Amino acid sequence: ARTQKIDSLITVMTLEEKAGQLNLYVGDMFNTGPTRRTVESERFDSLVRNGSITGLFNIHGAAYTARLQRIAVEESRLGIPLVFGADVIHGFQTVFPIPLASAASWDMEAIETAERISAIESTAVGINFNFAPMVDITRDARWGRVAEGAGEDPYLGAQVTKARVRGLQGTSLDDARTMAACIKHFAAYGAPDGGKEYNTVDMSERKMREIYLPPYKAGIEAGAATIMTAFNDVNGIPATGNKKLLRQILRSEWGFDGMIVSDWNSIGELVDHGYAVNPEQATVQAIEAGVDMDMMSDYYKLFIPALVREGRLDGKLVDQAVRRVLELKWDLGLFEDPYKYSQIEREKNEIRTPEHLAAARDAGRKSIVLLKNENNLLPLPKTGKKIAVIGPLADSHADMNGTWSFFGEQEHSVTFLDGIKEVAGENNVIYAEGCGMYDDSKAGYSSAMSAARRSDVVVMVLGESAVMNGEAASRTNIKIPDNQLALLEEVTKTGKPIVVMVMTGRPLDLSWLDENIPSILCVWTLGSESGHAAADVLFGDYNPSGKLPITFPRNVGQVPIYYNHPHTGRPYLGDYSEPPTERIYLSKYRDVENSPLYPFGYGLSYTQFEYSGISVSDDTVRSGNHITVSVMLTNKGDRDGTEIAQLYIRDLKASIVRPIKELKGFKKVTLAPGESKEVTFDITPQMLAFFHANLEKKAEKGEFRVFIGGNSDVEEFATFFFD
Ligand code: IFM
Repeated sequence: ARTQKIDSLITVMTLEEKAGQLNLYVGDMFNTGPTRRTVESERFDSLVRNGSITGLFNIHGAAYTARLQRIAVEESRLGIPLVFGADVIHGFQTVFPIPLASAASWDMEAIETAERISAIESTAVGINFNFAPMVDITRDARWGRVAEGAGEDPYLGAQVTKARVRGLQGTSLDDARTMAACIKHFAAYGAPDGGKEYNTVDMSERKMREIYLPPYKAGIEAGAATIMTAFNDVNGIPATGNKKLLRQILRSEWGFDGMIVSDWNSIGELVDHGYAVNPEQATVQAIEAGVDMDMMSDYYKLFIPALVREGRLDGKLVDQAVRRVLELKWDLGLFEDPYKYSQIEREKNEIRTPEHLAAARDAGRKSIVLLKNENNLLPLPKTGKKIAVIGPLADSHADMNGTWSFFGEQEHSVTFLDGIKEVAGENNVIYAEGCGMYDDSKAGYSSAMSAARRSDVVVMVLGESAVMNGEAASRTNIKIPDNQLALLEEVTKTGKPIVVMVMTGRPLDLSWLDENIPSILCVWTLGSESGHAAADVLFGDYNPSGKLPITFPRNVGQVPIYYNHPHTGRPYLGDYSEPPTERIYLSKYRDVENSPLYPFGYGLSYTQFEYSGISVSDDTVRSGNHITVSVMLTNKGDRDGTEIAQLYIRDLKASIVRPIKELKGFKKVTLAPGESKEVTFDITPQMLAFFHANLEKKAEKGEFRVFIGGNSDVEEFATFFFD
């Protein structure tokens, strides 16, 4: 029926109507800070009536979307329904932790649940096409959009991608509470030179396939209905005009038959890249490369009809693109019921429900990473102590929801101050903002110092505001902003014990804090329930279990720094206290250690875990066979805790220089005090495969090491062979 319906439409569509089906516009919104409200504009009515747009994005409202839909199905010549897209990146009105934070939970169930809820809330207001998940791997803390992805690792990134797609799309796209996922930004958008936004990407195809492509591929395998092209060029060809990426890898090798959408004006930018001489050529390049839907350049609408009429563009390619768009609409069930996503009742009842907020709180506390906890300063007692809460982010409603959260109402988010007061009691908390986010005034220091002096313990909430990470927010300085650091330094002079909660959307240089502050929690940006989630961890109702999905450097000069780097010919494995003469011609810096401040996979708990006795069931893995590797994990402390046990493999010798370690699995294990459990993983030949010089993926015979531990620095290993 789908093919029949679409064939019958394509046969009668004019070239203008075809171009219209490929043309996506942003709707009208007005800004109230980061929260944006839809303007129920009449500006689009005639475009819809004429069949000049396929849909709108980043607007919402059951009544508004239904009104536009009515024009499309009742007043346009062919009655083709509209699609409504949006960037629901980490929640609609129930705002979940930013994606980098939720990746730190390593909890695929919680991640899937968050997306399920995003889909329920979005579809209640008319949105059925989500420009998420963003799955770009990045090794560069300077890049602002690191906040939106799952970090540096291809394996973890792939697992997170699958969970997100499952959450958004459920088991059927046709369900009124699921929506189309859009894997973005294809490809390698997370690897811009110098971490600078929209910058060029140049890398070997082998590296791209090994490190950067796995999450996109995982998303396609999980059934994502759509994919978005990237702004950047890849090895000289802009991704949006890149036949090799779109036609060869995506369509032909991976078998993707969903819809490909450009990024915002990325078809237009083919001209700015200097890759197309004019808009007409850009149109031809994008269609020929396989881009089905044009977001915001207008080129498809403006140029396709004439280009086809003049024989400069193959009309069959246009039909193919139209088919993909109509298939998406069909699969969403829009031909059967165009109003299924615009339900006033659902809009009233299914948004920001207590269950959704509880899930956001749960996701939040699971995302927090305990970076340091000297003398068990944390958790704080709930009673009997005066707590000073200091910092410009402690009570900033505008910053709780973070980047890409323009549907979440800021005034409803629970701040850190709110959360702490709820537990410790209003009278036991003394608050001082201390300084502003963006100025260097020290006027607030004295009230901060006085708050600290009158307290038993100080909690400072410092770091990046919502606009300091995200799109177009690359930074060369990845420290906590100067004025906040200066304030912190000042407050340390009181001698009070200090806990710093670091809000961030990227790895920061926390070296000064690590040296001078007893307890550090990385609280990222946690969304609607920030304060509740943070208080759960601060006061010990939840024992932190998050692990970093990305390396935290000692300083910005180490960037890019990542755990799975290839063996060098001159590795420096020594100790920096050795005399410098011993270590000159080795792979290292002269002024800072090779190791990061906090490695990938790192995160502490209020209890202590011990790994012992790693062993393999057999010393040889053979084709068509697997072995198991086990370790005993014990909770040595005095409270329940959850550990994320990580499996890493090192291929000692191969025809391609291999990484010193690669993540190949992980398990979340909860243990009571004193309890031990054996943690076991299978090792299969597929896990040993890598891309060879000829781009074939296979495992090579030889010796391997396997590690299981609580972070990527794990040293104990067992040996096995692949034969
Ligand atoms: O989905 C986004 C994309 O990630 C960046 N450019 C704009 C798009 C639509 O808002």
